[in-house]
Amino acid sequence: MNRFNDQERRGLYHAIESRPIEDDVLARLIAAAHHAPSVGFMQPWEFVIVRDGGVRRAIYDNFNIANRAAADGYDGSRRELYDSLKLEAIVDTPINLCVTCNPASTRGFGLGRQTMPETAVYSTVCAVQNLWLAARAEGIGVGWVSILEPSVLRAVLQIPEDVLPVAYLCLGYVTEFRPEPELETRGWEKRLSLPELIHFDRYGTRDEPRARELLHSLKDDPMLEFERDR
Ligand SMILES: Cc1cc2nc3c(=O)[nH]c(=O)nc-3n(C[C@H](O)[C@H](O)[C@H](O)COP(=O)(O)O)c2cc1C
Repeated sequence: MNRFNDQERRGLYHAIESRPIEDDVLARLIAAAHHAPSVGFMQPWEFVIVRDGGVRRAIYDNFNIANRAAADGYDGSRRELYDSLKLEAIVDTPINLCVTCNPASTRGFGLGRQTMPETAVYSTVCAVQNLWLAARAEGIGVGWVSILEPSVLRAVLQIPEDVLPVAYLCLGYVTEFRPEPELETRGWEKRLSLPELIHFDRYGTRDEPRARELLHSLKDDPMLEFERDR
């Protein structure tokens, strides 16, 4: 019997998942986030590093309430599928990270925000994406948990009223990175066909043959295996 039994395997994966993330690795991830582009060089982000078990359990309770309410919005086989998905890793991962945005900050002197104030939040999401890519390079998986009541999240983390909790992230080492999103594998949703998403000169002027022609090089592009067979 070479194979570990189920309990042993669960133990192994739990050990891998909960392996601590060293400070130097976390520092790199946060530095990567901090080097994201931002509107007017506003850098509206801040990072709440959550390691405390009590705080994480309070967030987990918040998730469970929000998740039960969300689950009730589905029925039949979609409900069954929803219930079978793992939608958070709040207490299983060694670090949770809340990325916040202060949209009222005057840093950057309002450049770029007169007509589009929402770019403060978009900049913060760029920071999340940078962190995500750096985490991938470090072998760390990131889960974004949005099934939370923001007012409760705010209260638990003591985030002031003028600061927005943009992303609540769970970070942990993972044993594998899947070749496609789990929601695709599990049949929750499909990836759209890229040519259907391209318009020329004006919105509403989709031209699929023209878009396919534009994208035809992807078929033999060794850099982009993921779009090759579509
Ligand atoms: C804005 C946003 C919110 C998300 N909220 C959730 C969530 O509440 N629960 C969940 O399981 N995944 C959520 N996801 C998806 C996952 O965190 C993540 O994208 C997915 O696990 C794939 O990660 P990977 O590409 O690093 O493998 C969210 C993703 C984004 C971009």
